[in-house]
Amino acid sequence: MKNDYELEVEESDDIGTMPQLAKIQSRGRRTSVSAESMKPTDASNFKKIVIEKSEEQRTRIKESVKNSFLFKNLDNEQYEDVVNAMAEHKAAAGDKVIEQGGIGDFFYIVQTGRFEALISRNNEPAVKVAEYGPGGSFGELALMYNSPRAATIQATTDGLLWALDRQTFRRILLESAFQKRQSYDEFLKNVPILQTLEPYERTKIADVLESVTFANGDTVLRQGDVGDNFYLIEEGEAKVEVQKDGKVQQYPNLQKGSYFGG
Ligand code: CMP
Repeated sequence: MKNDYELEVEESDDIGTMPQLAKIQSRGRRTSVSAESMKPTDASNFKKIVIEKSEEQRTRIKESVKNSFLFKNLDNEQYEDVVNAMAEHKAAAGDKVIEQGGIGDFFYIVQTGRFEALISRNNEPAVKVAEYGPGGSFGELALMYNSPRAATIQATTDGLLWALDRQTFRRILLESAFQKRQSYDEFLKNVPILQTLEPYERTKIADVLESVTFANGDTVLRQGDVGDNFYLIEEGEAKVEVQKDGKVQQYPNLQKGSYFGG
């Protein structure tokens, strides 16, 4: 994903406070905002943020993130650091949590309520591009690429969010969860079945991909198995055999970019 924006911005290091909706303002100082895209924050210069929480709040966070791909590969220390840094943020129906064009300060995870992402292009009325409920998350792009907010996020009901500051996001989640977007971008662009997807939808597929390696001759799945995984071939080839009426039928090998299962 390429960031080709240039903004008038003043970077704020005021982290650990509740989200302030940053507005792009002209301050007579032109700063490129693409400089550190996709490079995780250097851990050695990092001061951990700890926002005190009750056990009850910790339980609620745990519940909100239990099925999230973001937290899947975190070790205990990383998980604790993320939970410590989260700030509780109440939203009322109609609130704009993020405004398109604003500066990225926080990443959000939904505990309760519903939110929608709206994009307006060329001053035309905003179009809804995504919806979020409990366990959903948004606001990662501006933090990953130092780009302006790509969409407005509005609460459609009252709700509760957990906000994670930019530095903790970059230091922990960028490295553990979102690097896959970068490594799989080229591959997914060339997978025929995904070509009709919007680029942003494709990146969401990268989020949930997991690499599995098989040796030559291994069986990936057997005819009649319950289908619980969808596979895309990243490298190599797969042989397909179908048993019918006691006979084995051979099909052409599946190649890189082919899919099966699911
Ligand atoms: P960010 O740009 O930081 O803030 C707005 C968020 O809306 C963005 O991150 C994504 O998390 C989310 N979003 C949802 N749908 C889209 C889309 N189609 N394009 C860009 N951002 C989207």
